[in-house]
Amino acid sequence: MCPIADAVERLARDSDRSERGAIFTRREVVDFMLDLAGYTADRPLYQMRLLEPSFGGGEFLLAVASRLVTAAKAAGAVEDLVDCIRAVELHRNTYLDTRSKIIGFLEQSGFAPKESHRIVDAWLLHGDFLLSEIQGPFDFVVAIHRMSVRN
Ligand SMILES: C[S@@+](CC[C@H](N)C(=O)[O-])C[C@H]1O[C@@H](n2cnc3c(N)ncnc32)[C@H](O)[C@@H]1O
Repeated sequence: MCPIADAVERLARDSDRSERGAIFTRREVVDFMLDLAGYTADRPLYQMRLLEPSFGGGEFLLAVASRLVTAAKAAGAVEDLVDCIRAVELHRNTYLDTRSKIIGFLEQSGFAPKESHRIVDAWLLHGDFLLSEIQGPFDFVVAIHRMSVRN
């Protein structure tokens, strides 16, 4: 295996939280940043695209999904939200946990299980954002990403 693929695989599989800079953002900070960016439910978010390059526990993602679904429901435009979000997470278990949270949120919001899975399969990607091919353009890119550097 090449050294980069090897390092990515190790980070994805069994790195600890500090090694991956995995400190998740508090909800009030997330809401403040989304308001500041203009990602607000009074806008046609269902016609816009947002990228979260390192979604971790899904703090941004859940707030984003909530605002998107609110905007789409208000406009009667919930038919197809698959293009509205792209989000990436490197660590496999974190990816799986957050995936479950988003599916749970969509089902609570009235989406059928099959539709929730279809949407989440389009929204979420497991991998290294820096090595992933993600089709743009995006109207918003949101995340807080901290890196720890070791000597
Ligand atoms: C500081 S947390 C931030 C999570 C979320 N963006 C937030 O603000 O709450 C960083 C996350 O990025 C992930 N990560 C680190 N490097 C990454 C990369 N190259 N591609 C995708 N995810 C990465 C880590 O596994 C961790 O879950």
